[in-house]
Amino acid sequence: MIFESHAHYDDEVFDEDREELLASFGEKGIGTVINVGASLAGCKETVELTRQYPFIYGAIGIHPSEVGELHEDNFADLEKWCFLDKIVAVGETGLDYHWPEPDPALQKEWFERQLVLARQVKLPVIVHSREAARDTLEIMQAHRAGEIGGVIHCFSYAKEMAREYLNMDFYFGIGGVITFKNSKKLKEAVEYIPMEKILLETDSPYLAPEPNRGKRNSSLNLPYVAQAIADLKGISYEEVVRITEQNARKLFGL
Ligand code: NI
Repeated sequence: MIFESHAHYDDEVFDEDREELLASFGEKGIGTVINVGASLAGCKETVELTRQYPFIYGAIGIHPSEVGELHEDNFADLEKWCFLDKIVAVGETGLDYHWPEPDPALQKEWFERQLVLARQVKLPVIVHSREAARDTLEIMQAHRAGEIGGVIHCFSYAKEMAREYLNMDFYFGIGGVITFKNSKKLKEAVEYIPMEKILLETDSPYLAPEPNRGKRNSSLNLPYVAQAIADLKGISYEEVVRITEQNARKLFGL
């Protein structure tokens, strides 16, 4: 069954129909979901979701755009959550230079802290990197991220950068963008990345694939992503679903 490696079902846009939506996943072929924390409140709700739904696992971390809320005390809470049974990764963490805030120095500091945390609690890391390719790579190399392991979520860089992350034995989260007409660079990267290193993800509620681009995203759209990858790789849809599930289970230890 489809393994959704990155979604945010704690988001308030799911408040109106969360239960109904999540309950429909099994019969629609969505087998497992990683709900990814992006803020302190989101992490708390992620823990709740993992308790309510047998098929939901969680990642605990603070998105680079949200690091302004962190300090020593609440960072200690993150560490505690990491030891819960169904928490399988640290993240999302990383760098996002698309917006001027928070200051890059602050983003780097908390990215490094979360890499240290991942190593300490022995969990893989989910990395968010947007318009910050060089700095992300430098920090990951400095922290020997290859020993920690993890996934570059919503991978958006070119083939050359994919090679760097492959050298660290990282996985690549591929989502709706692969179905966009203007995603030539990403399509080239996906042709280059071995199937054994690809995970399916949506980043719900964001980045819905064609033909639902612009709408609220959910894991029910993953078949469009899997089909786009199958077409690029010249393999069957079923193979893509099978291999990406296997990859995700290996990475998250499930
Ligand atoms: Ni995300």
